[in-house]
Amino acid sequence: MKITDALRGEHAVLYVLLEDVRETISDSDNIDVVKKSISTLDRALLSHAEIENNILFPALDPHIGQMGPLEMMRSEHQGIDELLEAARSEQDVAVLKSLAKQLVDLAYGHFQKEEMALFAMAEQFLSEDELSALGDQWAAKRNVEVQGQSCISAA
Ligand SMILES: [Fe+2]
Ligand SMILES: [Fe+2]
Repeated sequence: MKITDALRGEHAVLYVLLEDVRETISDSDNIDVVKKSISTLDRALLSHAEIENNILFPALDPHIGQMGPLEMMRSEHQGIDELLEAARSEQDVAVLKSLAKQLVDLAYGHFQKEEMALFAMAEQFLSEDELSALGDQWAAKRNVEVQGQSCISAA
């Protein structure tokens, strides 16, 4: 499986978690409820960004390292990290909800840019074999076995 397809699939799940946070902050002023919703997203976002930072982005550096998109994606990962970090220690529910709203907006826009620009560039500059080899690294990290076009859990 190409790494770009694996990451698109992860985005699909992350959109559901973003929507959950968006609904929670519009429905609840209970800090524990808001924190729980953010913490599920927190772990999922961090492990997704770690895969991009360590597997996909370094493979793109020699091709588009000097161009804007990769630098922008890295800087948005940093922005997401900072919002998550601030949310972890925030005790005021109104401030926490404001941080969560910024986080959801930033992550949503970030995924859209990756899907519309960065993954397309990856598929333009990397060969099918390179994309599949990176997909194998993704599968090892996620503990799934990829057989041809399908994935099975190796757990
Ligand atoms: Fe990303
Ligand atoms: Fe992503």
